[in-house]
Amino acid sequence: MTAATPPAPPTADNDWWRSAVVYQVYVRSFADANGDGVGDLEGIRQRLPYLRELGVDALWLTPFYTSPQIDAGYDVADYRDVDPLFGKLADFDAMITDAHALGLRIIVDLVPNHTSSAHPWFAAALAAGPGSPERARYLFAEGRGEQGELPPNDWESIFGGPAWTRVPDGQWYLHLFDPAQPDLNWRHPEVRAEFEDILRFWLDRGVDGFRIDVAHGMIKAAGLPDVGFNSMTTGRRQSELLGKGRLPYFDQDEVHEIYRAWRPILDSYPGGRMAVAEAWAETPQRLARYIGPDELHQAFSFDFLDATWSADSFRKVIDTALAESTIVGAPTTWVLSNHDRQRHVTRYGDGEVGLRRARAAALLMLALPGCAYVYQGEELGLPEVLDLPDELRQDPAFLRTGESRDGCRVPIPWSGELAPYGFGPAGSELSWLPAPATWRGLSVAAQAGVPGSTLELYRTALRVRHEHPALAGTDGITWLETEPGVLAFHRTAGDAELTCVVNISGAAATITGYGRPVAASADLTERGDGHVLPVDAAAWFERR
Ligand code: GLC
Repeated sequence: MTAATPPAPPTADNDWWRSAVVYQVYVRSFADANGDGVGDLEGIRQRLPYLRELGVDALWLTPFYTSPQIDAGYDVADYRDVDPLFGKLADFDAMITDAHALGLRIIVDLVPNHTSSAHPWFAAALAAGPGSPERARYLFAEGRGEQGELPPNDWESIFGGPAWTRVPDGQWYLHLFDPAQPDLNWRHPEVRAEFEDILRFWLDRGVDGFRIDVAHGMIKAAGLPDVGFNSMTTGRRQSELLGKGRLPYFDQDEVHEIYRAWRPILDSYPGGRMAVAEAWAETPQRLARYIGPDELHQAFSFDFLDATWSADSFRKVIDTALAESTIVGAPTTWVLSNHDRQRHVTRYGDGEVGLRRARAAALLMLALPGCAYVYQGEELGLPEVLDLPDELRQDPAFLRTGESRDGCRVPIPWSGELAPYGFGPAGSELSWLPAPATWRGLSVAAQAGVPGSTLELYRTALRVRHEHPALAGTDGITWLETEPGVLAFHRTAGDAELTCVVNISGAAATITGYGRPVAASADLTERGDGHVLPVDAAAWFERR
């Protein structure tokens, strides 16, 4: 059923996504309205004013569809309904209506590479047997070895172990992730038609865009050729090649046909409906092929996320990403953290040092032209929770690889003295992962209105980003000459100029000649006619 009156987009601006700040809501960990310890759609609706006040333009919601939750919802059993854990379709409608009324757009996650093994198509495929039309929608194959007892090829799951599982009749099916996530056969017309219909279903409900999960994965090389090594044979994991090399199951040229078919669907709706690719490709050039006027609008720049804390590393990544985006005529999509990666406070050194750097990185990212994605909790300076007890970890990759993404998925601390810090309704003590005692001082309530807090830093930066004419366009940046280890660039519009300076040099830097400071990740002190910018800090200066 479609909402009677699909909520109208907040503005008619078709290009809103080019410079938007998108806030990633990891639904199960954002806000829990019904007190079951898991975040939900009503929880998001209730917290929309917080997001409005923070100053973001759009939300990306991780999957809330019907799912056994083996991979936290990235195993979808019904693409057109809400899992009872998160609410009902009516809750989605209420949430998007309120979001749009507040001027916030909604991007939903689409998981096209695989379904859940609980999806009716997979149940039908298992029941129908080898050679059936039902099996043709997935990637079933005969095994190798005399009795077909070996997997059809040497492909490895991203979550560790073989990418194939054998079913009782002897055939094997492909799952690039968990066995509960069978890969679809995207050369099958029914699969393509189904997802085009799913796109329309959510577009009709008013969504402003889609984040495409594993956007590089849907087409596998013909003949399913071996990679040639894997962790079982040589000890080297195939996933090491993600973003660095070619794999026969990722970034195949044919995948672009799918996006060329989707783009006219998005374009047929008013208000600038967009799609962002979670894609891994060997080079920035191959990544850029996912974006452009006839494919997707954006692709996350994971090279920026992976840049080490050094001026050279950031400068190289920024220059490459901006050059590529100029060629394809689409903005760069900056991101520092997400639900799959260790939080950047921790990646940059953890503790006080990591937090200082993370705050500086925020000013760096938010001054760059293009779109920026903020992962929930980074505006609070949350670190990775490194000491979750093993028995509480839920990431399906944990059992197979010993690596778990749970530490960046701990529920958001909103208020109060005790965990889970207002994650649920008053009095609720449940949260699906426990928040550490050290988070008391990091809650929204503990930081709101406190000068110098990370939350206030983000609020200031987002306000300046919206208001300052020099940050309005999508024109490039001009690097300025500085001492080694200090990054400085400016953006201009007419007489307006905004300069971002990041000090990664190891010593305090004196900054003069860029005008008045409008945001700083650490205290600046005046010196002569300039300012002293401490180590691991960033500041914005403006002239109009
Ligand atoms: C993407 C998601 C990740 C998920 C995987 C399989 O990488 O971001 O969370 O586990 O796809 O769907």
